[in-house]
Amino acid sequence: MSETKIALVTGANKGIGYEIAAGLGSLGYRVGVGARDAARRETAVGKLRAVGLDAFGVPMDVTDDQSVTDAAELIERLAGRLDALVNNAGISGEMDPGWVQDPTTLDLEVLRTVVDTNVMGVVRVTNAMLPLLRRSASPRIVNVSSSVGSLTRQSDPDIEIGPVMAAYAPSKSFLNALTVQYARQFAGTNILINAACPGLVATDFTGFQGPRTPEQGAATAIRLATLPDGGPTGSFFEDDGVVPW
Ligand SMILES: NC(=O)c1ccc[n+]([C@@H]2O[C@H](COP(=O)([O-])OP(=O)(O)OC[C@H]3O[C@@H](n4cnc5c(N)ncnc54)[C@H](OP(=O)(O)O)[C@@H]3O)[C@@H](O)[C@H]2O)c1
Repeated sequence: MSETKIALVTGANKGIGYEIAAGLGSLGYRVGVGARDAARRETAVGKLRAVGLDAFGVPMDVTDDQSVTDAAELIERLAGRLDALVNNAGISGEMDPGWVQDPTTLDLEVLRTVVDTNVMGVVRVTNAMLPLLRRSASPRIVNVSSSVGSLTRQSDPDIEIGPVMAAYAPSKSFLNALTVQYARQFAGTNILINAACPGLVATDFTGFQGPRTPEQGAATAIRLATLPDGGPTGSFFEDDGVVPW
């Protein structure tokens, strides 16, 4: 089997996911660009290839069982294994005016959609990719989370953590909790799984507001996707170190 390491990044057609794919490509990985829209996917793959990176498109809607099964089969055919999975695809869900999600008036459909993408999507993709990851000598899984999922920070009145977000923030707390459960399940294996916070990044997601570039936002996820053996697992990181749960 090829020595070249294989990575899959979900939601890699733009924003932080695109930069994670570009960063892993620059480190010599062959990168699967997971994306649900064919045109956006091919544009991203074309841009990565134009700068000399080894990228291929992986059609994938993380909320769709069949599409995720098909994605795993495609990677099986093209690469035969997976060394790094970065679960980056995520949505905020519909916001009230002022970029708030008020829990007292929350539309359950918004909550369902956010959890389906940010939580169930990660379980769906991770479990579909696990047989491929288990063939790697050093499998790494990174869940792109957010510090707004930190219950410690959310409940500290002295920390400025932005508006009330009753669907998005708990979806990332749920994702963090799942990351810990996976790490416990993987104890004693060579699989390392961690959550990454990119910081506040100017992307479509934030209406291009935020002090950080997508490239800066990608840095922690890239570091966690390329951890050496014996590295941390079941933890939550940002650039400055560990984020409290
Ligand atoms: N930006 C920030 O400040 C910030 C802060 C903390 C955490 N994050 C997290 O970082 C991750 C990336 O965010 P971003 O800022 O780069 O946002 P973005 O520019 O909006 O990109 C989100 C990506 O996820 C994809 N996606 C959404 N739903 C999907 C689905 N059902 N199936 C497959 N792909 C799907 C989008 O694809 P389409 O183009 O098809 O919509 C897009 O590629 C998210 O998990 C987000 O929660 C972002």
